[in-house]
Amino acid sequence: MSGPRHPRHFGLIPAAGIGARLGAGIPKQYMPLAGKPMLAHVLDTFAATAAITHTFVVVSADDGYIGDLVAAAPHWQGRITILFHGGADRHASVLNGLNAVRAQVDDDDWMLVHDAARPGLTSALIEHLIQALRDDAVGGLLALPVVDTLKRGDQSGRVAQTVERTALWAAQTPQMFRYGLLLQALMQATALTDEAGAIEMQGLQPRLVEGSPRNFKVTLPHDVALAEMFLRS
Ligand code: CTP
Ligand code: MG
Repeated sequence: MSGPRHPRHFGLIPAAGIGARLGAGIPKQYMPLAGKPMLAHVLDTFAATAAITHTFVVVSADDGYIGDLVAAAPHWQGRITILFHGGADRHASVLNGLNAVRAQVDDDDWMLVHDAARPGLTSALIEHLIQALRDDAVGGLLALPVVDTLKRGDQSGRVAQTVERTALWAAQTPQMFRYGLLLQALMQATALTDEAGAIEMQGLQPRLVEGSPRNFKVTLPHDVALAEMFLRS
C-alpha cells in the first residue's frame, strides 16, 4: 500500500570522448588528477551522494580503461553501471545512454547529466541543484554568472563589439531534466546542443542555478594545474 512515489534522481555521465584538446595521450577522463583518474573523482562524488539513486556512465564500445577503474573501486558496487554505448559526439553519447536505461527509469524520474571532464563537482553542489529544482516544472542546470567583459571579434582579430554581460551565464553541468522530456528533446533537437539547449528547442525555459568555479570543464593543458588545486582543497 505505497503512497505516490517520489521521482528518483539518476546520474548520467558521458565519458566517451577522446580529449583531443587536452592531448594527454590517453582519453582525458582517465588522466590522473590529484591522485586518481578524473572520472574516478566524478564517480566517487555521485556514488557518495545520498540523493542519487544510481549513476550510469557512458563509455565507448572499445574503452580499454574503464575495467581497471571499476576494479579499483569496490565501493561503486551497486551504485554505478557502465554502458558501452558511446556515440560520435557528446549529444549521441547522452542519447544512447538514455535509450539504454529506458527499462530502469520512469518518465518522471530526474536525470542529472554531468560531464566526466568536470571533476570538481561536489555532493553539496549536486544537492544544491536538486533542492533548487525540487518543484520545478521544467528542470535546469548549474551555471555561473559571467564576470569578464565580453568582446565579439571580427575576422581580422579586432573588436567588433562589446557584448553586454548583464544576464549572461556560462553553462555547467549537471543539467537536470525529467527522463521522458529529456529523451524527447534530445531526439528532436536539430543542432548539436547541451541538454538545456534541447529543452529550449521545445519552447521551455530551464532554470539557472548558481554553480561554482571549481566545477569548470578541464579542456586545455593549462586547465590541469587549476583542477588539481581545486581537487586538493
Ligand atoms: N563525450 C562523450 N562522447 C563523445 C564526446 C564527448 O561522452 N563522443 C563526453 C566527454 O567524455 C566529456 C564530455 O562529453 O566528459 C564533454 O566533452 P569534452 O570536454 O569536449 O571532451 P572530449 O570530447 O573528450 O574532448 P575534446 O573535445 O577536446 O576531444
Ligand atoms: Mg569534445
